[in-house]
Formats: sequence, C-alpha cells, structure tokens
Amino acid sequence: MSQLSTRHLLGIKNLTEEDVNLILDTAENFKEVINRPIKKVPSLRDITIANIFFENSTRTRLSFELAEKRLSADVVNFSSSNSSVKKGETLVDTVNNILSMKVDMVVMRHSSPGAPHFLSKNISANIVNAGDGTHEHPTQALLDAFSMREKLGDLQGKKIAIIGDILHSRVALSNIFCLQKLGAEVMVCGPITLLPKHIESLGVKVELDVRKALAWCDVANVLRIQLERQQIKYFPSLREYSLYYGINKKMLQQLDKEIVVMHPGPINRGVELSSDVADSKQAIILQQVENGVAVRMAVLYLLAGVRS
Ligand code: CP
Repeated sequence: MSQLSTRHLLGIKNLTEEDVNLILDTAENFKEVINRPIKKVPSLRDITIANIFFENSTRTRLSFELAEKRLSADVVNFSSSNSSVKKGETLVDTVNNILSMKVDMVVMRHSSPGAPHFLSKNISANIVNAGDGTHEHPTQALLDAFSMREKLGDLQGKKIAIIGDILHSRVALSNIFCLQKLGAEVMVCGPITLLPKHIESLGVKVELDVRKALAWCDVANVLRIQLERQQIKYFPSLREYSLYYGINKKMLQQLDKEIVVMHPGPINRGVELSSDVADSKQAIILQQVENGVAVRMAVLYLLAGVRS
C-alpha cells in the first residue's frame, strides 16, 4: 500500500493499521533525509500549508513548520492571539479567509474537541489535527510509536504504560489507539481522579500504583499534569502528586530491567519526572522531538497524495 485511506488526519481512531505502518515506514525514509547535509526535498513544491494555532504550542508548531519547509512547501502561520478571532470572527470564517488565499492544507490546533472534524466538513483543504482539546493529538502518538519502534523494534506484545493525567490528555487517547493498532499491550496509571470513567472499555489495563506500572512495562510514557484544563482540584497539591506519582531515578534503579522513559513535553520538572530521570539516557524525550519532524513530513507528504 502506498496511499493513505483518508485525506485528513483528524485522529488515530479512524486510521487503519496499514495507514499507521505506512506513515511510520515513510517517516524512516524522511529521518534519513533530514540527517543529510542537504535536508530539503522538493516533494511539496507549489503546495501551500497554513499552520493555524488557537492554543499555545512550542514543539508541534515548530516541528510542523520545519517539516513543511524541508518538503519545500510554502508556509503561512496563524496564531489566534494576535488575529481577528479576538474581534469575534468565527472558526469557519477565519479558515475560509485563509483558504481564499489558495491554501492547500491546514494544520490546526484548537481547544475544542472535534474542531478539525467540523472544519473538514466545511472546507476542501486537507486538514491535520495538531491537537483538539482533550480529544486527540495524532501526530504526537505517531512520533511516540516511531520512537518506541526505533528503540524496541516491532511493538507487537510490547508493554507500554501511560502514566499521569489521563483524564485531560489528548496524547493518551491517540497513544492508546495507535499502540493497539501496532499490537502493543497498553496500561494507564494515575490517581483515580485523573483516570476517565470506563477507560478499561478501550481494552487497556488500569493501575493505580505507579511502582507496579513501572515493574510491568517496557516503556513508561509519562504525561504532564494539565493544570490549565483542571477546573476543580483532582489531587491535594503538586507536592503530594509528585510524592505518589512522580518518577525518580531511585524508582527506576529498583526495577530488574531498564525501561524506556518518554514524555511528550512540556515537562513539569520535579512533578511527573525528576530532573535526574528527564535528563538521563533512559529518557528519549529529545529523540521524540527529533522524530516529530520526520513523522510530520511523512504525514504531510502522504496526505498531499490524497487530495480531492
Ligand atoms: N507535545 C506537544 O504537543 O507539545 P506543544 O504543546 O509544545 O506543541
């Protein structure tokens, strides 16, 4: 198979296993390209891409922009904080105005779950979801899977624990869908207040004790506490969270194996990970960021091949 089954990347849920493998295999080729002295290829020459961010981002926004430039696309960037959205313009009006400038693809981050799905029904450009509220963050899950595969080989039967604020995390849901399509076993671990009700119906194991989760897994993908999405108190204090769920070097040294530690960023240092773990060789956090460019190049390149 050399073509995706979809013309938008709205989430991982609706991708096929073949789609996921095609993206990861294509990203391997692009990783080789971006490590050459000349990092640019002409694959998306004459394609214009708009990066439309209604929420803050460092890694995803820069990574998409670099991926687009490495593919020779023309790029325009839009941030809601200094735009006419502040004057009350709607999402569809904003995007249609951008598209009328002959934009072919839209990469969008929005705080409302489903915003890119809504947009895909109203505009003709290819849409890439760069994170929609607490729903999905598909390119993060793909780059996480790519990084795990690079470290461990085939993910069939591998044990991945997703630890932390599962309730508010779009990374968790996309990771669960992606890893299950690749045959991995998935566990979620966190305080009961930060685990969605009925999460086990997604076919994941549920564990409240972080030490047991670490002893079980090959990879711990540790998530950020998303204080900005928490309207009520889910745990007494960050200090108490860190005491019960923070991962430090001593805990990793007590395991009878060396596990891989991941984090999508941004990290709350000293809360979900101590600095001696975040900066250790066991943590592949910066490799994840590096792989993000190759994975996003693969996504954009493949979607451009499925234009309407
Ligand atoms: N991982 C991630 O989405 O980071 P940003 O919010 O900085 O893009």
